[in-house]
Amino acid sequence: MTDQIYKVGMIGLGRKGHGHARGYEGNPRTEIVAGADPDADNRTLFLKRFPVTGYSDYHEMLQHEQIDIAAPILPVSPNPEVVIDCARAGVKAIYCEKPMASSLQESDQMVEETRSRGIYLASGDAYRNMPQHWKVRRLIDSGEMGEVQSINLYQSTNEISGGGCQGLSVMRLFAGDSDVDWVTGWCDTDPLSDDDQNMGGYVKFKNGIDAFVHNKPSAVRGIEVVCTEGIYRSSFDIGEVLLGGNQNALKVQEGFFDEFGSTDHWTSPSGTRQRGGIQAIVESLDQGIDPRCSGDNMGKVLEIAIGFRESHRRGFAPVKFPIEDRSLALYPKPGRLHNKKDVYGEEAYAEMIGQASDKPIGGAEV
Ligand SMILES: NC(=O)c1ccc[n+]([C@@H]2O[C@H](COP(=O)([O-])OP(=O)(O)OC[C@H]3O[C@@H](n4cnc5c(N)ncnc54)[C@H](O)[C@@H]3O)[C@@H](O)[C@H]2O)c1
Repeated sequence: MTDQIYKVGMIGLGRKGHGHARGYEGNPRTEIVAGADPDADNRTLFLKRFPVTGYSDYHEMLQHEQIDIAAPILPVSPNPEVVIDCARAGVKAIYCEKPMASSLQESDQMVEETRSRGIYLASGDAYRNMPQHWKVRRLIDSGEMGEVQSINLYQSTNEISGGGCQGLSVMRLFAGDSDVDWVTGWCDTDPLSDDDQNMGGYVKFKNGIDAFVHNKPSAVRGIEVVCTEGIYRSSFDIGEVLLGGNQNALKVQEGFFDEFGSTDHWTSPSGTRQRGGIQAIVESLDQGIDPRCSGDNMGKVLEIAIGFRESHRRGFAPVKFPIEDRSLALYPKPGRLHNKKDVYGEEAYAEMIGQASDKPIGGAEV
């Protein structure tokens, strides 16, 4: 084991950048050494809270600093170019936000530019980073729950890429990260639009697992992983494992998540999303393993969402994977695609970023 401290360079010091910075600050194996953002107000606020070297241009930061982990926490439109620039600059790992990109072409290129150089790419302060879900995945891999048969994902969101990528990522985790064979799906608003919207559908994974994405508003939110010998139910941030073989014998496994602290809600430091994501990128570098919520995962999640829309466009026909036309895109809401200050105005933004920067160290996610 190594006890190397990984040096972090933040790119994009806006609202969400503060949350990630708190995560790095709270991890004993990471140290933020610099931050870059052309927005002078955001940069000043960030540097007051995290006193590191500031740059207005991230190229300069990459040139002058020894960065192990580049952390671009950016709107989606500049993200692909910046991630690729970081990869070409020779950092060891990149942990960006989500959605990672708008088009399949962009996400393919981001994965390729990092993978070909042996750079780990992670994307998103995501539920998939929570160690609780990985404990269940290990239980499934051990065979104790039998075989995964089907997955129900309940997520009503008006942005299947923007926010919905969270649930789709956890769904992939419990499908063993299998490749997709084919999907059918539908859009709630307008199948001809390239803009993000509420979508649902069915995913046939190549390993035979069925997954159903329920998109109607309902009392349920989260995931249900139905196995031959047990069930995992989770609202993503609280969950239970049931074992016992059949419907009548199924019993909740009391204490299964106790090691993560709080049992009523997964809010203890070791179990939070933000801390889990930072720890995951440290483990990638230490152990040479893929990040828990990798760029490859986020690219495949985008492909599922685009697949649902394509199915609707083709009269609800099945869409075979991989999707051939890599130019297809799904554009996130303006507040994710562009700087929030430009979208919501200076006054509204000042309040948003004030709230983000005021949170205490180790406070809840932003
Ligand atoms: N995982 C989650 O739960 C979650 C939650 C909120 C936001 N997000 C994602 O985080 C991302 C950023 O959101 P935010 O709320 O921080 O946005 P924001 O508008 O508050 O901040 C973006 C910052 O990036 C800077 N920036 C833009 N282009 C740049 C470039 N080329 N180089 C350096 N800096 C640049 C801007 O000046 C700004 O300071 C979005 O993609 C959003 O989808 C994820």
